[in-house]
Formats: sequence, C-alpha cells, structure tokens
Amino acid sequence: MEMRPLGSSEIRVPSVIFGAWAIGGWYWGGSDDVVAIASIRKALDAGVTCIDTAPIYGCGRSEEVVGRALAGRRGEAIIATKCGLRWDREEGEFFFDDTHPSTGKPMKVYRNLRAGSIMEECERSLRRLATDVIDLYQCHWPDATTDLDETMDAMLRLREQGKIRAIGVSNFTPAMMDRCRKVAPVASDQPEYSLLKREIEADVLPYCRANGIATIVYSPLEQGLLTGAVTMERAFPEGDYRSDRAWFQRPNRRRVLDTLARTVRPIAAAHGATLGQVAIAWTIGEPGVTAAIVGARTPEQAEENARGADVRLTEDERRRIRLAFEALGAPLP
Ligand SMILES: NC(=O)c1ccc[n+]([C@@H]2O[C@H](COP(=O)([O-])OP(=O)(O)OC[C@H]3O[C@@H](n4cnc5c(N)ncnc54)[C@H](OP(=O)(O)O)[C@@H]3O)[C@@H](O)[C@H]2O)c1
Repeated sequence: MEMRPLGSSEIRVPSVIFGAWAIGGWYWGGSDDVVAIASIRKALDAGVTCIDTAPIYGCGRSEEVVGRALAGRRGEAIIATKCGLRWDREEGEFFFDDTHPSTGKPMKVYRNLRAGSIMEECERSLRRLATDVIDLYQCHWPDATTDLDETMDAMLRLREQGKIRAIGVSNFTPAMMDRCRKVAPVASDQPEYSLLKREIEADVLPYCRANGIATIVYSPLEQGLLTGAVTMERAFPEGDYRSDRAWFQRPNRRRVLDTLARTVRPIAAAHGATLGQVAIAWTIGEPGVTAAIVGARTPEQAEENARGADVRLTEDERRRIRLAFEALGAPLP
C-alpha cells in the first residue's frame, strides 16, 4: 500500500483509508459489530492502516467498535476522528433534528467548535477508542457561531497536551482554512469527492495543493453506487438514508449504471479489477488527492477496496472515465 504524507505533519497515511461511518449503523439501516470488527481487522491486514471515524457515527458506537477492533493492534493503526457535532448539548449552530439511534428519543444535532466542547469531546473519544492519543483530530463541520481562533487554540492545546498528534478540518472552505492556519498548522482537509461529485476541483483541491495540506476525500464510491452493487432492483432497508440521495433515485441510478457498463467495465476488465477498485484508483490518482476514505461493511469489501490502491490507470483511461462522468452532468431532480 502506498503511504503518503499527511500535509506537513509527521504522519503518513495509506492512499486508501477505512471509513467507519456505516459500521456505526446510523443512517445505514443498522450494522453488526462482530462483522464490523472483522472488517476493520481485514482492512489492517490488507495495508489499510488508517481508520476514519467520528463521535456522531452511531452516537459513539463507531468509535467504540474501532476501539474494540484495534485491541492489541493499536500500534498498527493511525486513528483519525473528529469533533464538533454534538447531539447531547444544545449549544453552537443548529444543524438538524433526528432520532437517537439507541434510545429512539428525538435529538437535535448542533455544530459546536467551542473550546470547552472540544476539550470534553476529546476525552470522550479517547475513552471510546480505548487509546491515549488520537493521531488526526478533525473539526467535522464549520460552526458559524464560534470564532475559529478559539477552535484552533483548543486544538493546539490538545496537541501540546499530547492527546492528539495532528490537526485537521473537514468540509472547510479555503477561506476558513486560511483563518485556521493563522493560529495552528492544518495537516488535512476532509471534503467529499468522487467521480460524481467533483466540485472541490474548483477551489479546495488547488488550495490544499498549493499550501501543503493533505486532502483525504470522503464517499469516493458515492456510498456504493460506483461499485455497480446498487442495481435497479436493489431496495434499501428502513433507516438507510441512501434511498433519499439524488444519485440513488431510479432515473439517475440508471444513468450511472449505464456509464459504468459502457466506460468503466471494459477498463476494469483490462486490469482484472472491479468497478469499485477503478473508482478508487481514479480518485486517489487525481492530483492533490492524498487518500480516499472508503467505507466497508464486510471483510470482503474491505479487502477489495484495499486492492483499489494497486490499480494503475493510464492517462488515457483516466481521461475517458472523467469525460464519461462529465457527460452525465448533475443528477436529475
Ligand atoms: N467528513 C464528513 O462529513 C464525512 C461524510 C461522509 C463520509 N465521511 C467518511 O468517509 C467514509 C466513506 O464515505 P461513505 O461511507 O459515505 O461512502 P463510500 O465509501 O463511498 O461507500 C461506502 C459504502 O459502499 C458500499 N461498499 C463499499 N465497498 C464495497 C464493495 N467493495 N462492493 C460493493 N459495495 C461496497 C458499502 O455499503 P453497502 O454494502 O451497504 O452497499 C459501504 O458502506 C465514511 O465512512 C466516513 O469515515 C465523512
């Protein structure tokens, strides 16, 4: 597995990172902890030695599962987690209403990057992850009610205390990163990026490249759609929010599946690869992309996704794939 520098930090990450949102179950129609733990361990075996999680993924559950999966193997893994989304404290910028995945009670999710909240969250994450240091600590979403100086001061303090090793952000604009960097070094940004969502090419990717900030991108498989496993027949269970996503609506799904069949399938066949591996290889081959954070729900998926890092697409193949997805345009309403 190719290892790449995480911005100006001392950390190196594999070009494929394990994404632990789905194994928290919430928004994904549930999850099985035993299978999730086996998936993380299989990923580690395959060289995917960085795990990305967050407190909000299952309201603590994903972090706990990651902690259990790494029992006895902590030294093999880079743990990336996040702060700034609170479901248990009504302070900051209101984000959305939801239902608590364990208690079933209504809850309000707030973006909260205040210093006190970050310090509290970090302690809780360390406990759930069963570790004494978080390798990469990321602000999950910007919080319009908190001055970024206050947020970065808190992140710096955590680093000085040895509780985190590197500071990252997620879903931040270049202007926000500029503000942060006046106070603290920002090792990485975590934006959304895939063949179907290429908006960051206009601003975030060039900004990060120019400023030595790593870009670890999320949802590179468009939540499974780019693997071809989301067929026209596939229905999602209750609580799997993909049924509401634009690209998953049937006319859009049809267009994606046609593009995969026409353009990506022959390229995949030439490499002895799967559609998902080609999507991963395309993503991590884009200039400025440091790593793709890929979710996996089974050991088989984890192993398959890890191998995506080994597929070397030619420039002509990359161009043909890009043109095919550019021709798709935006999802139909
Ligand atoms: N910072 C943020 O705001 C943010 C937001 C979203 C995600 N993330 C991070 O990015 C990670 C990845 O994003 P994501 O989970 O949204 O989407 P993704 O990686 O594009 O897709 C993951 C899903 O695709 C399916 N899949 C994965 N490998 C497959 C394979 N080999 N064959 C067939 N299907 C496969 C699985 O679902 P099924 O098997 O159920 O189809 C899996 O849960 C997350 O886990 C999280 O760590 C961060």
